Amino acid sequence: MWPFAIVLTFILGAFVTAVYFLEVRVRDRALADRVAAVSTLVDQKLSKDTNLMQAVLRTMMGNHAVESAFARLDRDALIREVGPLFETLRADHRITHLYFNGPDQVNVLRLHSLDRYGDLIDRTTMTKARDQGLAMHGLELGSLGTLTLRLVTPWQGRKGLLGYVEIGEEIEHLVDEIRDSLSVDLFVMVDKRFLLPQQWQHGLTLLKRQGNWNRFGSRVMVAQTTGQVPFALNDDVLTNLSSGSTEVFSDGDRALHLAMLPLIDAGGRRIGDLVVMRDISALQQTFLRSIMTVTLLSLLAGAVALGLFYFSLDRVERDYRRQHDLEHQLLRLGTEHQRILQIEKLSALGTMVGEIAHQLNNPLVGVVNLAQLASREADDPHRTRELLKEIRRAGEDCHSFIQSMLRFSKVSSFESRPTPMAQVIEETVLLFRQTESRQLPVETRLPEQAVVLTVDPILIRHALFNLLINAAQATVGEGAIVIALDRALNPDSGNPGWLLSVTDHGKGIAPEILGKIFLPFFTTRSDGTGLGLPVVQHVALLHGGYVSASNQPEGGTQFAVWLPEDGKLLENNRSDQLGHGA
Ligand SMILES: Nc1ncnc2c1ncn2[C@@H]1O[C@H](COP(=O)(O)OP(=O)(O)OP(=O)(O)O)[C@@H](O)[C@H]1O
Ligand SMILES: [Mg+2]
Repeated sequence: MWPFAIVLTFILGAFVTAVYFLEVRVRDRALADRVAAVSTLVDQKLSKDTNLMQAVLRTMMGNHAVESAFARLDRDALIREVGPLFETLRADHRITHLYFNGPDQVNVLRLHSLDRYGDLIDRTTMTKARDQGLAMHGLELGSLGTLTLRLVTPWQGRKGLLGYVEIGEEIEHLVDEIRDSLSVDLFVMVDKRFLLPQQWQHGLTLLKRQGNWNRFGSRVMVAQTTGQVPFALNDDVLTNLSSGSTEVFSDGDRALHLAMLPLIDAGGRRIGDLVVMRDISALQQTFLRSIMTVTLLSLLAGAVALGLFYFSLDRVERDYRRQHDLEHQLLRLGTEHQRILQIEKLSALGTMVGEIAHQLNNPLVGVVNLAQLASREADDPHRTRELLKEIRRAGEDCHSFIQSMLRFSKVSSFESRPTPMAQVIEETVLLFRQTESRQLPVETRLPEQAVVLTVDPILIRHALFNLLINAAQATVGEGAIVIALDRALNPDSGNPGWLLSVTDHGKGIAPEILGKIFLPFFTTRSDGTGLGLPVVQHVALLHGGYVSASNQPEGGTQFAVWLPEDGKLLENNRSDQLGHGA
């Protein structure tokens, strides 16, 4: 029972663990998908805004009035021509910057800050556009900590390079849009190496923002979609996230899952990171509930399996015990049976010895007494002759007893051959008629076809003769003796054979002695030896058959010897078979 319980517990444990890890994988995969979606959405939005800015610049550069104003570096004319357009772009499309720079990169006009000009612009997008003579765009970090998407394009006039036009937008609104689309919170972190604390602080005041330079070691948060920055979000967590792994922790009653995307500027530098945070409280609850359900169901299944196993084991054990007890009882019964057989054999032997002694003792005592009488009366020749006659009769009795004993022992030797049964029966009846003085009628009922069985004819005749003599001895009046031969199956084995029966109309056999008549020396007649029926039984067994006795309802007895059709004889264990009942 215990090994099974341990194995079952192990299997259930493995199952629950497997389910747990499967769920964790599903959860991680869901966040990874969300992070990938954030990355795609950021790229899409940046490229869409870049396209818009490109379209604006192209339209503007097609305007001759603007072109001639820029060619003359006429600030007032430019403000007049482009000012309204910039105001519309700022109001409707969040465009925050629009610059005109001369061919020497010196700023001519900042439409978003009219009083600042004349300074050299050497930001990456500017220098790249100058070097490659093409429009360049990308993210750039301002000194105040603002992230700006810029597009700089060289303006080729009819008389050569007029200068550079630069348009840009601060991208803070992007994180809010992404939060709305993907239901994740975002924190924009900038590497402190790219900022000066004083300028950043100045930016906070200027842009009316809140922030804490010292909240993180190497990074500073410049934008966020939620004011609830988790307490557990610290430098260690950020370091882990930047290596590409994800983090799960709880913040109050919230379960949070975090990942990170790098922020690359127009010059290809990693200027900071975008921390993606997903509130997985509901997911975690479902996850816990499903794990608990799986565990409970597994435990239940395990308990049921264990119960069933225990029940079956108990039944098997009970069956085994019952069988074991039965086998034990059978063995005991077998031993007892053997002992009883042994006792029976011994008692039969005792009876036999007693009978033999008794049968021989009576005539011998007579011989001794008669001999004494004869010696006393030796002078009376007549009396002496009479006594000698008696002595001779006693001797003859002993002789005939010993003869019948010898006949009985001779039965053990036999020789079988195909024998026509009708002939054997006829010869036996003839012999019987010569012996039987009363000339009782004998009737034979034989089948029409000749029955030839492989038997020893002498033994069969001997057995049939014994049965006829017994029948005659039992018959008081004139009742006929009937000999019949009928086809019959062996009731035990079902083998085909023949039943040779002798039926008389005599006194029948008393029920109390019916079980003893086949025992050697059992007799109810004063001059009987009790060996007739044992001989019949022995002959039947030698031929692989049996003998049975039964009282007839109308009075009288029937003895029937069953002989097999194929006539196989029992070759061994003859003496044992003599001792068994029919
Ligand atoms: N046909 C029968 N009708 C009634 N009783 C019978 C019949 N045949 C046998 N018996 C009974 O069975 C006993 C045993 O018979 P069995 O032939 O063995 O011995 P027996 O006839 O007594 O002596 P033996 O045959 O040696 O002269 C008989 O003494 C008799 O009581
Ligand atoms: Mg007899």
